Amino acid sequence: MLRGIKIKKISVIGLGYIGLPTALLLAKNNKVQGYDISKEKVDLLNKGKIPFEEPGLKELFEEVKDNFSASTKLQEADVYLIAVPTPLSEEKYSDISYVIKALEEVKEKLKKGDLVIVESTIPPSSSRKIFIPLLEKSGLKVNKDFYFSHCPERAIPGNTLKEMVHNSRIIGGSSKEGAILTKELYLGFVEGQIYTTNLDTAEMIKLMENTYRDVNIALANEFAKIFHSLDTNASVWEAIKLANLHPRVNIHRPGPGVGGHCIPIDPWFLSDTKYDSTLIQQIRHINDGMANFIITQIRDYFKGHLFGKEIALLGAAYKGNVDDTRETPTNRFVKLLTKNNSIVKIHDPHVKEYSYSYLLTTLEDALDSEAIIIVTDHKEYETLDFSNIRRKPKIIFDARNIVKEIKGTNGDTLYVTFGEERYI
Ligand SMILES: NC(=O)c1ccc[n+]([C@@H]2O[C@H](COP(=O)([O-])OP(=O)(O)OC[C@H]3O[C@@H](n4cnc5c(N)ncnc54)[C@H](O)[C@@H]3O)[C@@H](O)[C@H]2O)c1
Repeated sequence: MLRGIKIKKISVIGLGYIGLPTALLLAKNNKVQGYDISKEKVDLLNKGKIPFEEPGLKELFEEVKDNFSASTKLQEADVYLIAVPTPLSEEKYSDISYVIKALEEVKEKLKKGDLVIVESTIPPSSSRKIFIPLLEKSGLKVNKDFYFSHCPERAIPGNTLKEMVHNSRIIGGSSKEGAILTKELYLGFVEGQIYTTNLDTAEMIKLMENTYRDVNIALANEFAKIFHSLDTNASVWEAIKLANLHPRVNIHRPGPGVGGHCIPIDPWFLSDTKYDSTLIQQIRHINDGMANFIITQIRDYFKGHLFGKEIALLGAAYKGNVDDTRETPTNRFVKLLTKNNSIVKIHDPHVKEYSYSYLLTTLEDALDSEAIIIVTDHKEYETLDFSNIRRKPKIIFDARNIVKEIKGTNGDTLYVTFGEERYI
């Protein structure tokens, strides 16, 4: 039963990791038309296929398919919800050109009474200073003729649907009425709390959340490097676990660096402002530098030479048990190892197509390498079995501390996970 308003038609613009699940959840109660510039994606959807892995998405698609259609053309609607990419340029500036392009198309169809929602993560003040003035070129006035809201997304790949339903949401509105109208719409599927605020604040909240996580991971990585430099039996993993028992401490996990569409990107959106935050630049540098730190340990082990060494990277996805390779730390490892003239192999049980697909190989072939770096915490890597592998690796660097059991080695393989190391 719809708790929200009755809207005739919704157009969701951008049918990616965020737009598609949102469109399908909205289609439980509304007629939803998905629009994407990717013909490949639209064709797949029209054949009843989901373009990426996400638990429950296929089932939801089946459930709502009579209320959902996909097209490469934007159709007129009452609500336009934009979930297109907002990547980072080479120079580390936010690229809002996809949002602008989408809004240019919305502007052509905008009519009195419409609601425009941007879900994409955007730099501070862009709604007020860029997006609304662009829509007003239609001759319609915000808050008089149409409403504009920013509703940043907090869901995580691998658990997107559950989080979209149960997480709390922030809605920034061009006016109080617009925010309430938007809230009514989301109440159709959101079971978490929905808080309303103004546009500028909503934009900042999303950027602050991801910057907080990036800072926290950078701190964990600094701790891991300190542990690594100590000649002790101290374990960074155990220390963090026990430190987090403190009621006001919540240290994140160290690792190979940060990936995905949000955490490595959003902090840079904050440094686009007049205040040039050196902290943000430093944490980005720390987290992006983890690949170099780990490769340096491996190079030291091989007495300074990685030339011609076969090195396997376990995991291409940026996080465990998903196929999302955007901004994956694996790419930084590939670049650095290639620079060192190593022979790189990658295994990933979830990833089929990706920028370094030509390096993808079987797990058996990956295990048959001189060094192994575990980059992604896929559950498949909890047990590594070398019983049928003739050549045993000299060193395994487990950057995620994911391995629970290693079988079939001869006691000559060094297993390292920041500071802790043992022969297995
Ligand atoms: N993926 C996440 O976990 C996540 C979480 C929170 C916020 N976000 C934010 O949500 C936004 C969307 O991210 P995503 O992960 O869904 O991206 P995505 O790359 O998976 O999907 C974006 C889709 O938009 C399409 N597109 C691009 N320009 C278009 C246009 N002008 N008109 C129509 N379609 C267009 C692309 O073809 C693509 O299918 C980004 O701003 C991102 O930062 C993502």
